[in-house]
Amino acid sequence: MNILLLGSGGREHAMAASIAKSDKCSKLYIAPGNAGTAQCGTNVELKLDDFEGIGKYVLSHDIRMVVVGPEAPLVAGIADYFAGNEKLKNIALIGPSAQGAQMEGSKDFAKQFMQRMGIPTAEYKTFTRDTLKEGQKFLSTLKAPYVLKADGLAAGKGVLIIDNLKEAKQALKEMLDGAKFGDASSRVVIEQYLSGIEMSVFVLTDGKHYKILPSAKDYKRIGEGDTGLNTGGMGSISPVVFANKTFMQKVEHRIVQPTVKGLHKEGINYKGFIFIGLMAVKGDDGTLDPYVIEYNARMGDPETESVFPRIKSDVVELMQAAWEGNLNNIQLEIDERSAACVMLTADGYPENYRKGDIISGLDEVGESIVFHAGTKRTPNGNIVTNGGRVLCVTTLSNSLPTALLKSLQAAETIKWKGRYYRHDIGQDLLRIAIDQ
Ligand code: AMP
Ligand code: GLY
Repeated sequence: MNILLLGSGGREHAMAASIAKSDKCSKLYIAPGNAGTAQCGTNVELKLDDFEGIGKYVLSHDIRMVVVGPEAPLVAGIADYFAGNEKLKNIALIGPSAQGAQMEGSKDFAKQFMQRMGIPTAEYKTFTRDTLKEGQKFLSTLKAPYVLKADGLAAGKGVLIIDNLKEAKQALKEMLDGAKFGDASSRVVIEQYLSGIEMSVFVLTDGKHYKILPSAKDYKRIGEGDTGLNTGGMGSISPVVFANKTFMQKVEHRIVQPTVKGLHKEGINYKGFIFIGLMAVKGDDGTLDPYVIEYNARMGDPETESVFPRIKSDVVELMQAAWEGNLNNIQLEIDERSAACVMLTADGYPENYRKGDIISGLDEVGESIVFHAGTKRTPNGNIVTNGGRVLCVTTLSNSLPTALLKSLQAAETIKWKGRYYRHDIGQDLLRIAIDQ
């Protein structure tokens, strides 16, 4: 069948590479894609908020499956648009309805859902402009650090963690005033600070059954040792060393099952990926307990770049089963090896950065895989930088240290003016592995 994948980042290149490998995929289109996705299929100029344009393209190109990479079209209701259109309703749209995407689009919605389903998460309260004073009083009852979250989508930047009470009260006021994050913070969730190690779990669901995909950990800060500004993600590894069988059983029983059951029970249409951001917190008995930090209605970026290469099963078959409601009949086969992904970024990222620098060394990465994130092919055939996160290098190996080392070696051979990458991706987990 012909397939359309929406998005343009490293996540989409990794998904496109797996989709293109499937026997079930005839033609793959990626909108808008990048220079990397162009190696897996045909890039198409479509705007992700133009559902009508996307629908027309789907019909005129005999596309039978649409895979939605980023959250914005989901929150804006692309699945509902397809479901409500006579000609499009039978196209397999992989991604939740707008209501399902509220799991990501509204922190308050997600917190209320978790509370109803008894899913472990930090204690919280939600405040609006009218309840600013109560919010400030609530902060006084908590211990530092204070966690303040803009309710709506804020490009991954809507969470503030503040050590000082006075500053936290001021930040709450600025968020509710709209001075910070605009409309996204017209409601603010204040929650208990959880101390532990973060990781991500990915689930594919057909709304009733589910498959748990490989776990991963991403590295959000720009600087080594997790310092400096937040980014879209500077690298990822999969699997996560401490997420052993016992821990993953807790995740499945306490979080994945009640999440999928809860969505079903509440009549929320959800056929697609669920990204569960977790904090692993040491419990009284000394073992790790999972708490949900956030849900996302899509795969993670750059987690997908280490998760998808480990999926041995046919991903188109998996997604088709998610659409048809028979994921329970499908076997999920995972590559036991470790994957390490190192992101290469443009000079200045995550603040102002340059575009248009010529990239060299792309063919000298040995067995590593290069996923493009922000790249473009110029008319004279050069591949140039076209985003803050430019490329990511993933290596699979029997051991995580080897995977990391090979990805770093490959990263070093790829060059452009001012390219930057972190050398310490995964090092924290190697230390945990030694301690265990
Ligand atoms: P979120 O956008 O909800 O994933 O939050 C962004 C980041 O803030 C997370 O990746 C965590 O590092 C941190 N964070 C969010 N909530 C908490 C919490 N309750 N306790 C500690 N850290 C948190
Ligand atoms: N890597 C975090 C995200 O995709 O939101």
